[in-house]
Amino acid sequence: MDFSGAHILSIEQFQRDDIERVFGTADRMEPYAQRAKITRVLEGAILGNMFFEASTRTRISFGSAFNLLGGEVRESVGMDSLSLVKGESLQDTARVLSGFSDVICMRHPQAGSVAEFASASRVPVMNGGDGSNEHPSQALLDLYTIKKELQGRGRGIDGLRIAMVGDLKYGRTVHSLCKLLCLFRDIQVTLVSPPELAMPEDLLALLDQAGHRTVATEQLEPSIAHVDIVYSTRIQEERFQDRSQADLYRGRFRLNQEIYTRHCEPNTVIMHPLPRDSRAEANELDADLDKNPNLAIFRQTDNGLLIRMALFALVLDVVHLVDKYARDIRWHNPRLPRDQAT
Ligand code: NCD
Repeated sequence: MDFSGAHILSIEQFQRDDIERVFGTADRMEPYAQRAKITRVLEGAILGNMFFEASTRTRISFGSAFNLLGGEVRESVGMDSLSLVKGESLQDTARVLSGFSDVICMRHPQAGSVAEFASASRVPVMNGGDGSNEHPSQALLDLYTIKKELQGRGRGIDGLRIAMVGDLKYGRTVHSLCKLLCLFRDIQVTLVSPPELAMPEDLLALLDQAGHRTVATEQLEPSIAHVDIVYSTRIQEERFQDRSQADLYRGRFRLNQEIYTRHCEPNTVIMHPLPRDSRAEANELDADLDKNPNLAIFRQTDNGLLIRMALFALVLDVVHLVDKYARDIRWHNPRLPRDQAT
């Protein structure tokens, strides 16, 4: 695909070599994300970060990624402060906001809304999550994490064995991840959910067409026994017509160290897009897993920064200039080993 000036709306836009390109670019962003160096390559550029739905990491990660490339961020959070509540169409909002920004990231509760916004935007738009439809940057960072976690073990994405657990009906991260896995070969996907929250049929059909083996089940423990990755998700209570219905499912698939030790192969990687629901009645990933070195959830968020930097650099066509506009940092950087810190 031609990244330059492209909207990033769905994983369906990508081919396998595009994914390699994103991952290769993300690798090159490491020194900047680590603050070993800074780059001003996007100096003067403005990101419009428009989040019409709750977000912590996606919004701050997109914003920080843009800052790390030297750009400025202007943000709007929530629907109430915008003229959308006065009846303005998404397309008019896009026509206006794209006059103020060089690229826009957007999250919105309705499926398809970010594409609708993009259709009227004069600048590239990135989908930060549209309802239960897609979350492409999350899928990219998830797969990048899977690749990095497995590479030391002589395993790769082709041949992967993954269990996706939780709300597979409304979870947009697993929807985008399934689409992404369809670009690879010979994958075993175990789908663990209550039947009411099962993976939608269209995604099952895509996995099937890609030749992947899928099993749908309600049983957590046997499903995590022979996999490389356990990818846990939150019950998406905000998508339920009647929120109290979400209570029926919360806490159904808890994972803790004892269950992990009893059932998982050594070094099974535990992932979650976060936020993990840590309330006692849910407790999807118990805090006792925090000491488990295979818990990759905070490496996922760190990788998210690299992936989002890569997406900006590709879409704004500055990958070849990132190092040219680099310089040393001036402050003491506690993240770096002493001999590398200035
Ligand atoms: C996810 C989302 O918003 O879809 N969070 C995220 O972006 N990392 C998952 C969730 O909210 O459960």
